[in-house]
Amino acid sequence: DGEAGRPRVLPASAEALDTAAGVLRDGGLVAFPTETVYGLGADASSPDAVRRIFAAKGRPADHPLIVHVADTGSALDWAGHFPPAARALADAFWPGPLTLVLPRSGRVPDAVTGGRPTVGLRVPDQPVALDLLERFGGGVAAPSANRFGRVSPTTAGHVAADLGARVDLVLDGGRCGVGVESTIVEVLDERLTVLRTGAVTARDVEAVTGLAVEAGAGGPARAPGMLPSHYAPAARVVLAEAADAPDTASSWVKDGRRVAVLAEEAPGGLPEEAVVLPPVGSPEGYARLLYQRLRDADALGADVVVAVPPAPSGIGTAVRDRLTRAAHAR
Ligand code: TXA
Ligand code: MG
Repeated sequence: DGEAGRPRVLPASAEALDTAAGVLRDGGLVAFPTETVYGLGADASSPDAVRRIFAAKGRPADHPLIVHVADTGSALDWAGHFPPAARALADAFWPGPLTLVLPRSGRVPDAVTGGRPTVGLRVPDQPVALDLLERFGGGVAAPSANRFGRVSPTTAGHVAADLGARVDLVLDGGRCGVGVESTIVEVLDERLTVLRTGAVTARDVEAVTGLAVEAGAGGPARAPGMLPSHYAPAARVVLAEAADAPDTASSWVKDGRRVAVLAEEAPGGLPEEAVVLPPVGSPEGYARLLYQRLRDADALGADVVVAVPPAPSGIGTAVRDRLTRAAHAR
């Protein structure tokens, strides 16, 4: 298709960051690294610029976007109300992989929130992202920099492959350190709801605020756009505990399918036809490499990915969440 040529990709030098800030000021689109995944950014105060994000992604216009800002002081301008619990979370976790959904201020265009009364705000913990936000000076609306329905990008190469010339400039800041999207917590006075799991856990949120957190309410109604297909590769994802992985893999191999296996450590006893993806080593490694490995499986032409999920604690909870959604995608 016509827009699928290569975008301009620049290593994130000072000069490139100035160029990127200029692209944002001119209403253009800049893909940039964060500690979670690459974002597809536009000037959050410009409805026209924000609409270009939806066109480039092929994403329905009613899915709300996160506004990225350089510091908590800037976040105050975008929120209509910043309750004490939100302040405590910002102090504890910003910059970091936490998005706060708060009542919006009059500054937030409808194009950003899909007309909702709330806005998602985040200060990313990534030097290139923070430098860009400081040079630009405003808020940057940014979803993950993938086409709608593809897994999130964790390298500049993923962005270029997905979006091509639909994005004006890609800042290359290397591989994202965390690798799964930010934790999203809706804070409506003292009512806290985790809409999406991430590196910041519900337990972390409770410890900092002293408030009980409503868990796992991240259905489509509360966080529109959290569809299972967002976390799925083209291959079918099947979950198996390590002890069951050989039998699971064998049954798909017997069915004539090309099988890839994803795990922290390679399980023993796999059928020799199965391709073992390079082991991710730890829950943190799983988060960091999850989307890379799913893309690798597609590149290998795998029909099925047999994934051994990490233990359900810390960031392992977020990895399990993404894998479970991916497994339910069809
Ligand atoms: O880690 C991240 O959060 C990355 C990086 C780029 O910051 N961004 C990201 O954006 O994952 P996106 O658009 O792919 O996912 C944002 C999620 C969506 O599921 C959206 O529904 C939810 O945040 N969201 C945003 N604003 C919201 C709001 N006002 N109320 C409820 N959910 C909201
Ligand atoms: Mg996304």
